[in-house]
Amino acid sequence: MKTIAVLTSGGDAPGMNATIRAIVRTAVENGLKVYGVTRGYKGLIEGTMKEMDLRSVSNIINRGGTMLYSARCPEFNTPEGIQKAVKTCKDKGIEGVVCIGGDGTFRGAKDLSNYGGIACIGVPGTIDNDIACCDYTTGYDTALNTIVDIVDRIRDTTESHDRCAVIEVMGRNAGYLALNGGIAIGATSILIPEKEFDLDRDIIDRIKRAQKSGKEYFVVMVAEGCTDRLKEMGIDGVEALARYIQSRTGVEARHAVLGHAQRGGYSSAKDRIIGSRMGNRAVHLLLEGKTNRVVAMQKDEVVDYDINEALDMKKSIDLDLYRIAMEISI
Ligand code: F6P
Repeated sequence: MKTIAVLTSGGDAPGMNATIRAIVRTAVENGLKVYGVTRGYKGLIEGTMKEMDLRSVSNIINRGGTMLYSARCPEFNTPEGIQKAVKTCKDKGIEGVVCIGGDGTFRGAKDLSNYGGIACIGVPGTIDNDIACCDYTTGYDTALNTIVDIVDRIRDTTESHDRCAVIEVMGRNAGYLALNGGIAIGATSILIPEKEFDLDRDIIDRIKRAQKSGKEYFVVMVAEGCTDRLKEMGIDGVEALARYIQSRTGVEARHAVLGHAQRGGYSSAKDRIIGSRMGNRAVHLLLEGKTNRVVAMQKDEVVDYDINEALDMKKSIDLDLYRIAMEISI
């Protein structure tokens, strides 16, 4: 293998830059030519890329976002789109591609490999922590700390006014950010998609019980993945949930949707280190002639899986964490 490329696809995540840096430097140090493709699979289709050298990735290890930009690319889900991307690779002599992102990114890598014969390696990068084969995805730790930082601020004012703060956090269909964020800020109630919930039992009764013991302000943490179920219960979003809580408990309630603030900012040391380790492994897999693999973290070890196996795996959240949260945050 002489020439490889790296791209980031799907939602950006802090730590992606550390991963890119590790990939570029590992490639160059091992005698490979490496292209940085801009805007994910769209860039591969359109041939937008630049050759990277050791200095191209200077001073990015700390930065959030992705220096290669990212995009979601519906065209890449079509046979024509894949053919165009394969042609770009052939024209540039690219034999291997490292694709940083989530499950959707890995499906793209699989197609590029199966239909185009390009060696592809997936590297997890998403704040959602929802990659089944991976204990920790790059970006999750930073996002979690950002949530804690913002909610600590909201908690100050919530306490000053004896209010209830209802906070929606990201995570797509996964509740990792809500559950661990909820534990870290001491939320009275936490709603996650992985667990059935009942508004009276899990929010109203808990607030009333806490009130009886003297508690006067409350934080309710809601994963965005609960939105549909809340709608089925007649509650359209966290603003409506705040109104419901106020009407049922008499506690003045406010809501906040943390949104994309959770995705930005300087990445944590953990995300920089994990991103660096996984990026380095991805290039070594290519150098060993491997393809269709996903790099992952398991019990603080860097491992790799067949991409199909990785995509078929199911991740289950540790519900004992939920039990702990409910026991200690009343
Ligand atoms: O997958 C990362 C993520 O931030 C999810 O938590 C969220 O549901 C989604 O991306 C938002 O996507 P977009 O930035 O396209 O609105």
